[in-house]
Amino acid sequence: MASVTSLSDNVQQHLASALAATLPEAAGADPLLRRSDRADFQANGILALAKKAKANPRELATEVVGRVVTGDVIKDVEVSGPGFLNITLADKAIIENLAARYADDTGRLGVPTAADPGTTVIDYAQPNVAKEMHVGHLRSAVIGDSVVQLLEFTGENVIRRHHIGDWGTQFGMLIQYLDEHPHELDHKAGQVTGEEAMSNLDRLYKAARKLFDSDEEFKTRARRRVVDLQAGDPHTLAMWQKFVDESKIYFFSVFEKLDMEIRDADIVGESGYNDMLAETCRLLEESGVAVRSEGALCVFFDDIKGPDGNPVPLIVQKSDGGYGYAATDLSAIRDRVFNLKANTLLYVVDARQALHFRMVFETARRAGWLGDDVTAVQLAFGTVLGKDGKPFKTRAGETVRLVDLLDEAIDRASAVVREKAQDLSEEEIAERGAQVGIGAVKYADLSTSANRDYKFDLDQMVSLNGDTSVYLQYAYARIQSILRKAGEVRPAARPELPLADAERALGLHLDSFAETVREAAAEYAPHKLAAYLYQLASLFTTFYDKCPVLRAETPEQVENRLFLSDLTARTLHQGMTLMGIRTPEKL
Ligand code: ARG
Repeated sequence: MASVTSLSDNVQQHLASALAATLPEAAGADPLLRRSDRADFQANGILALAKKAKANPRELATEVVGRVVTGDVIKDVEVSGPGFLNITLADKAIIENLAARYADDTGRLGVPTAADPGTTVIDYAQPNVAKEMHVGHLRSAVIGDSVVQLLEFTGENVIRRHHIGDWGTQFGMLIQYLDEHPHELDHKAGQVTGEEAMSNLDRLYKAARKLFDSDEEFKTRARRRVVDLQAGDPHTLAMWQKFVDESKIYFFSVFEKLDMEIRDADIVGESGYNDMLAETCRLLEESGVAVRSEGALCVFFDDIKGPDGNPVPLIVQKSDGGYGYAATDLSAIRDRVFNLKANTLLYVVDARQALHFRMVFETARRAGWLGDDVTAVQLAFGTVLGKDGKPFKTRAGETVRLVDLLDEAIDRASAVVREKAQDLSEEEIAERGAQVGIGAVKYADLSTSANRDYKFDLDQMVSLNGDTSVYLQYAYARIQSILRKAGEVRPAARPELPLADAERALGLHLDSFAETVREAAAEYAPHKLAAYLYQLASLFTTFYDKCPVLRAETPEQVENRLFLSDLTARTLHQGMTLMGIRTPEKL
């Protein structure tokens, strides 16, 4: 037995059939069921249906109530207010449902997979070669990783693409410099750390830049290099590869710190589409989608104009023949649709690139590369702000290095762990500190909806109270400690027991995990999962306050409460895994 029908779906079906029997034209209508404080659920859909059928809503509701089958699942249903239905479930049905989730040996807590999954290509975690990663890259990686987990959990076939910035004119300067100082990047793989790799690149970048700005002849040589690179000159390419490899050492060290699995095979940067660029331009020009304007190949849009009222085109090829970001993205679309057979293209990219994607998608539609059967979405994320509400910068006004930020989060978290630690060794404190610190950073990013800006506030992020991952991690660890203390007594569902209010609220929330995951995946909205988990931890806290677990009145009640606790822990664990956050067993 694997997938479990959720209680709300079950009630929904009961209501829908009673509704269809009462009012045939309402067949298939949504009874609009939601959780309620007055009863377990309330259905508000009858009002609109009555209005449409020109019927009295209370009378219609009363008739529907008469037809609802009560018994095993629905204990009681009554009309309330102008024509709402209040529905109370049988205690037994709640625990039996949860017991089925608990027994799901696939570990999926009874959550079903989609009936007809598609293929999504997701473009995320795309830093730039020879450059430091910053907080923007953090967001793309963290949000992207969670969306990958969510989609895969629903059964979607997910193809990851890390569209790193590994191509472009700046490489002419770097390669030329390296050619003139050939031993600057000499070392065997595995010999340098991520930090060292980045500092090598930084040193080279600064030196090359200095020469480029001061020496006209170097500048000319550097420009010629760009041409060699684009023409695929083997020596030039080999040197370019050295920069890419050095950068990857650095990228992987950051992803590892982020506790995130990024696979080399999924890194297909801008350079990966190089062979397609000329053809992409030819196809656009031949079909008339793009036109030559002042030597450049451009696509125009009626509704996209600059402040001066003149149209702002998407430039696919510059007048000097160079291809830019747009040509690469258009080629990537062709690859993803025609070779990878994607139904959905998802781009986890900064909101400030929204115009670029709007123009790229529209161009691809006109060219026929994006048909009606393919959805293209930019999952646009907002800016990370400092405590002052301005884009996050160091005191000197520089971009903050992502690594410094992560290290600081880990330090703060380790201090919190150490303070609360009872029986943890130094080694354990370091390990938990990293799990708590990285979790805190991820959670802060994922718990606000992606399109909004958020303040990067480490004090708040590692706080034990409030909407933080630490709070969730402590709830999880607390449950593990209860289960350890229970010793020989094992969790067991006891459907025959009556439920206290706090047990019922917790139980119904546990049941709605499946629905939350479905929604969060469909809307690419990890923040909905975060909100769910926070509420779950809060409901558990209330339950734990009101209902003694190990000292409950009867042995059966102890077992049943252990069961509710364990299911809460498993749900927390599964949910946090979908956000890339660890749940240490002890804190
Ligand atoms: N490398 C870019 C940046 O750092 C993000 C790439 C986004 N993906 C894409 N297909 N354009 O801003």
